[in-house]
Amino acid sequence: MRLENKVAVVTGGGGGIGAAVARAVVEEGGRVALLDVDLSAAEEIAAELGGDAAAFEADVTKLDRLEAAAAAASERFGGIDALVNNAGIRIVKSFLDHTEEDWRRILDVNLTGQFLAAKAVAPHLIARGKGKIVNVASIAGIGGRPNRVAYVAAKFGIVGLTRALAMDLSADNVCVNALCPSMIASPLNISLAEDGDIGPRWAKDNLARRWGRPEDVAKVAVFLASDDADYVTGSEYRVDGGEATGLVRAGEMEL
Ligand SMILES: NC(=O)c1ccc[n+]([C@@H]2O[C@H](COP(=O)([O-])OP(=O)(O)OC[C@H]3O[C@@H](n4cnc5c(N)ncnc54)[C@H](O)[C@@H]3O)[C@@H](O)[C@H]2O)c1
Repeated sequence: MRLENKVAVVTGGGGGIGAAVARAVVEEGGRVALLDVDLSAAEEIAAELGGDAAAFEADVTKLDRLEAAAAAASERFGGIDALVNNAGIRIVKSFLDHTEEDWRRILDVNLTGQFLAAKAVAPHLIARGKGKIVNVASIAGIGGRPNRVAYVAAKFGIVGLTRALAMDLSADNVCVNALCPSMIASPLNISLAEDGDIGPRWAKDNLARRWGRPEDVAKVAVFLASDDADYVTGSEYRVDGGEATGLVRAGEMEL
């Protein structure tokens, strides 16, 4: 019960990782506001979770919508203790095929969206006297990945945003950390994970020898949103089965 009496706001709560985080928040005794541009997706997850969850429409590129949703969530649950900045989109194509519009859209949703959601929710955390912000980045934001120029730039930006916010909100007792998952078998990737060729090939890239699951990410998000992480701020947490650092299993190298 790491989140007993805590209230978390999860952006993109109707999607794969966001929904897993919402479920984990409730399993750990907390209550959760699911914010999503796709209200019906968020409502479906909220209905599954019952009275400890509520769905609100909010596009993370719109500060006024985020502020209205944060105010409504705070009123519904009596305050906010944590923000999980999770909403995101991805465009996979070569650099030369990326249009200016692709670049601006990815930066707008994935990076500016986290800045705006933090702006909307931080006053509620500060009013509580303490709080947590968990920014979902990616291992693409640490080591990069091909064919995702805008996505990689946005995710590196999230790591920088995380460090900047950790400093700027430290006097308000708000801890800010980044979560960096590898490829997770969320609905975004399930066709790849289940592909007979790509699925097993990519699973070989990590020490765990399997694809990550949304629940793997959710467990670390819950830790970072809880009082157990009071001395953790300005950090990046990889949830990647050891992939990002290119670790090799013992016995698989000759020397
Ligand atoms: N799935 C992976 O392999 C993986 C790996 C690393 C990082 N991530 C990151 O995790 C986060 C969640 O990914 P996912 O796999 O669950 O994706 P997903 O597509 O399953 O879910 C994303 C959710 O965000 C919502 N959303 C999209 N644009 C929005 C906007 N403008 N405003 C509000 N909500 C919006 C969608 O409606 C959806 O419910 C993203 O930030 C993604 O970059 C995912």
